Amino acid sequence: MSLVLNDVTVSRGVGPVISNVSFEIKPGQITSLVGPNGAGKTSLIESIAGVIVPSAGSIVMDDLDITKLSKRKRSRAGLAIVEQGRMIFPSLTVKENLQLTARTKADLDEALGLFPELEKRLNNQSILLSGGEQQMVVLARAFASKPKYLMLDEMSLGLAPVVFMRLLPVIESIAKSGVGVLLVEQFAHLALKIASDAVVVTSGRVSYHGAPKNLLDDAELLRTSYMG
Ligand SMILES: Nc1ncnc2c1ncn2[C@@H]1O[C@H](COP(=O)(O)OP(=O)(O)OP(=O)(O)O)[C@@H](O)[C@H]1O
Ligand SMILES: [Mg+2]
Repeated sequence: MSLVLNDVTVSRGVGPVISNVSFEIKPGQITSLVGPNGAGKTSLIESIAGVIVPSAGSIVMDDLDITKLSKRKRSRAGLAIVEQGRMIFPSLTVKENLQLTARTKADLDEALGLFPELEKRLNNQSILLSGGEQQMVVLARAFASKPKYLMLDEMSLGLAPVVFMRLLPVIESIAKSGVGVLLVEQFAHLALKIASDAVVVTSGRVSYHGAPKNLLDDAELLRTSYMG
């Protein structure tokens, strides 16, 4: 059981932005996908989520070929995605935001349990929350759908590292509960620290795939991986 990318190629506009990328996201583990701006990280996540169909290769989730499935069907099959720049619905309350994805009260309560500090904000309009709190709601909302696999694209965007660090242990506990997490992050060091697998993409190709520790211990390896 895992989410497997086989030789995935994604084309947009002028040509391929992802070329022959293969790796696996395992249940209960965090795979960190890092790389410079424009490397193709979001395009790859969008191909997994069904926003864009790969021009070649396949994506298989627990033996189900999802390569050409609609976004909706992937989501029903257990895939959740937090898109880059994705926000809460500002005019809805925190509770209403969670109710958009939670199927039962128990699922909603479990999602709220991730961030006890949200309890007292439940009936507040989400727009009144701080940027960090809003991202808590975004993460809790994704978790409330009870996904098997969760894709997170740059949740730290616009957040100070210290605020983003509040999210990290929660992402870890989501993985510990059995969810396979793909973590795309600009703060590579923070993302690699909680990952069991690291993938670096540069110009649409995998330039490193292996233990995060090697990259953390070896600044030169990290630098050359980013250079492609
Ligand atoms: N909607 C689009 N139409 C055409 N080209 C696009 C589109 N979105 C992205 N691209 C191009 O695809 C390439 C990969 O972009 P992508 O957004 O996937 O990279 P990224 O690694 O997520 O970058 P960032 O770190 O800035 O989020 C870039 O060259 C970008 O200009
Ligand atoms: Mg991106």
